[in-house]
Amino acid sequence: MRRLRPILAAAATAALVATGLVAIETTAVTPALALENGLARTPPMGFNNWNTTHCRAEFNEGMIRSIADIFVSSGLKAAGYQYVNIDDCWARPTRNAQGNLVADPVRFPSGMKALGDYIHARGLKFGIYTSAGTKTCNTAGFPGALNNEQRDANLFASFGVDYLKYDNCNNQGVDARTRYTRMRDALAATGRPIVYSICEWGQNQPWTWAQPVGNLWRTTGDINDTWARMLSIFKANVTKAQYARPGAWNDADMLEVGNGGMTTTEYRSHFGLWAIMASPLLIGSDLRDVGPTDMNILLNRDIIAVNQDPLGKQATIVSNTGGRWILTKQMSDGTRAVALFNENSSAQTISTTASAIGLPGASSYGLFDLYSKARRTTTGAISASVPAHGIVMYRVTAGGTVPPGPRYEAENATISQGAVETQHAGYSGTGYVNTVNAVGPYVQWSVTAAAAGSVTLRFRHANGVAENRPLNVSINGGAPVSVNFPATGAWTTYATVTLTATLVAGTNTIRATATTAGGAPNLDYLEVATG
Ligand code: GLA
Repeated sequence: MRRLRPILAAAATAALVATGLVAIETTAVTPALALENGLARTPPMGFNNWNTTHCRAEFNEGMIRSIADIFVSSGLKAAGYQYVNIDDCWARPTRNAQGNLVADPVRFPSGMKALGDYIHARGLKFGIYTSAGTKTCNTAGFPGALNNEQRDANLFASFGVDYLKYDNCNNQGVDARTRYTRMRDALAATGRPIVYSICEWGQNQPWTWAQPVGNLWRTTGDINDTWARMLSIFKANVTKAQYARPGAWNDADMLEVGNGGMTTTEYRSHFGLWAIMASPLLIGSDLRDVGPTDMNILLNRDIIAVNQDPLGKQATIVSNTGGRWILTKQMSDGTRAVALFNENSSAQTISTTASAIGLPGASSYGLFDLYSKARRTTTGAISASVPAHGIVMYRVTAGGTVPPGPRYEAENATISQGAVETQHAGYSGTGYVNTVNAVGPYVQWSVTAAAAGSVTLRFRHANGVAENRPLNVSINGGAPVSVNFPATGAWTTYATVTLTATLVAGTNTIRATATTAGGAPNLDYLEVATG
């Protein structure tokens, strides 16, 4: 739910005018709640090995450790990817004498606890897999958790597991809702926060009952690395927007980007569609072998920002005429993300309007192309020639204001005298930064600009006390500018403060330093818009 706060906006505008800064936009978000485990407030982002390895021997400890390393070294972690998840075939085919699952000693000689420790040491989270049946799906017959729910949940918690994918094979005909609820309760009883992924393939319409049971639920059978299968899953998942909300997501299955079975154009469509459908973004390719073109798709922060928007809306269908699809996603800052998707095998012109995608009337609209990065204004027409099997995605702003640029989460920035927290819902990414209450703590972002010039900086914050919490903002160590961060009414009410700045080409540092005894407000992210 989005509320405008005109009084707050007016006060903040006055404060900014006083400091010589130029614009203010303030929004507040009160997220709807689902499964009350506080997790997956935005769609989970991470990795799962299944699409690239299935059960083959290359699925092993060395591979998973390498993936965790690459998350850090490639910028995937900084872009928001967090969960490193392992799929079927990690266990021995039989339980031990105590009845517990045991890691396959050939694939995972160091064991699961050590694997979780390795992943956690890199600031990432660890996910595991089993089935809500007597055995998992693989024909080797690995043990499932049906009738062993609490035993297995306790074991997973002892491994340090942060995410469970719970499959549907060999379920003995026991009612799905009963089976998945039992594991929900077993996970809760461990006391460890564990994202709960229901992998029931949409067989019992989980979107109609799973919001209070799991954080996400598969809507279809398995994806594979083909255009046809990707397209059919998109068509099944896109109709279920009304069921998605923070903490409860339609899962269109894991990504195939980087696995080689689709063209670059098709992978851009796949990634863009999954992002705008608020599906989890779980990379399913072996990152050791993924080239720069596919890596850049996965690292596209502007598309990730569409997926991770804290309002938690799944895109809805504006129209589909002859395979020319128009989807719109409501964003927490009042903008809309729009996808023009062409399922045809020839180029098509796809056209809509700002009004049709849900924006209010305005004399001008800002259009930001999330793949090409082009920016322009329009009086309302939104139209593009979209290649065969291709997608064009825009973020559209009413009023001709500069559309938001790449988002840099505060939790991934350099933090001095502060910590990443998650207790106040409504943040984007994996948390926000809470500094100590003093003069001097700061958050410093490293921002890349393609060219020198003026940009718009948009800081998202929450300030639950009555007093303002001004920050000194310094670009590349230059003279600080005092920027006011007004009270937002509650720590769960987020607002944005906007100012203009000049960047150099290449890497820039943007440091925001607390200047009063109250410290900084809680800082959620910085967006940097050019043009
Ligand atoms: C099912 C799931 C897949 C994968 C395999 C593993 O098919 O839907 O995502 O986990 O099992 O066996």
